[in-house]
Amino acid sequence: MTTERAEEDTVAYTVENDIAWVKFNRPEKRNCMSPKLNRQMKKVLEELEFRDDVKVLVLTGEGQAWSAGMDLQEYFRENEAKGLGAVRKAQRESYGWFERLRWYEKPTIAMINGWCFGGGYGPLFGCDIAIASEDAQFGLSEINWGILPGGGASKVAQELMPFRKAMYHAMMGENLTGKQAEEQGLITEAVPADQLLARVTAIAEALKKKDGHALRATKWTMRRMVDMTYDNGLEYQIRAQEALHSFGGAEARREATRQFLDEKSFKPGLGTFDTSKINS
Ligand code: ACO
Repeated sequence: MTTERAEEDTVAYTVENDIAWVKFNRPEKRNCMSPKLNRQMKKVLEELEFRDDVKVLVLTGEGQAWSAGMDLQEYFRENEAKGLGAVRKAQRESYGWFERLRWYEKPTIAMINGWCFGGGYGPLFGCDIAIASEDAQFGLSEINWGILPGGGASKVAQELMPFRKAMYHAMMGENLTGKQAEEQGLITEAVPADQLLARVTAIAEALKKKDGHALRATKWTMRRMVDMTYDNGLEYQIRAQEALHSFGGAEARREATRQFLDEKSFKPGLGTFDTSKINS
């Protein structure tokens, strides 16, 4: 018999070497997302977002799953029994943290260690980089239990995958392995399970060395431009670069240019500049 998990235990996290490792923490329920978990995840993300000792956030799952999607009992059945108000509240709690993650002010990496279903595609898309174990399983299983892939899931597939692949994925309810998910554009990269942690750590370490403000502006730009024309994208880039200048961007750029042109201590084409030398 499983004991009921307290709300604050539905998400676990540690911060080590400027990397926050956040975990869906209901392994006994394959980390499916209950209202408690959704509330706690939003709290944890907000707590970590502006901490100086957090430069990169990794979202992963405890046990065999990344997340088995929404909780059919606690998210769907129980709220539907209570009525429309409860349904909307639960939707807002989950969509709320997916949205916070999409616009998170720090770089984020999804480390997909196992099952990833349906509602899990919201946070999957919310993370900037997605690295999975080759044997992870991705599925829009909604069709298998008689609903459509909602909560953002069908939009994620349509946004990231070639249309024919996305349509098949949504209609057939067949799972993709990590390797197939990589081939179809759903994730950044799949690696053998025993290399997952090392690969994610290497990416996080590389991100840590880059200028955090430039990373923020790059993230907004890449996400905002998705539905912009070329000219609007160009205009947005000008504005985002100018906004970046008011948050340390001007000093960072001046220092990087100095290191390249004057000090000749690095080449932008071959790596990143030494951000520790920026005069704040
Ligand atoms: N909602 C509610 N409970 C769940 C969910 C879920 N999404 N996923 C797993 N659980 C529960 C199981 O009911 C079971 O509970 P119990 O121990 O009290 O019986 C426990 O987690 C363990 O699950 P098992 O099915 O025994 O684990 P197994 O490793 O055999 O299978 C798998 C894992 C394939 C992920 C299976 O649990 C499953 O199909 N889950 C549902 C996946 C899904 O379709 N999610 C919904 C997507 S649609 C959406 O998110 C809107």
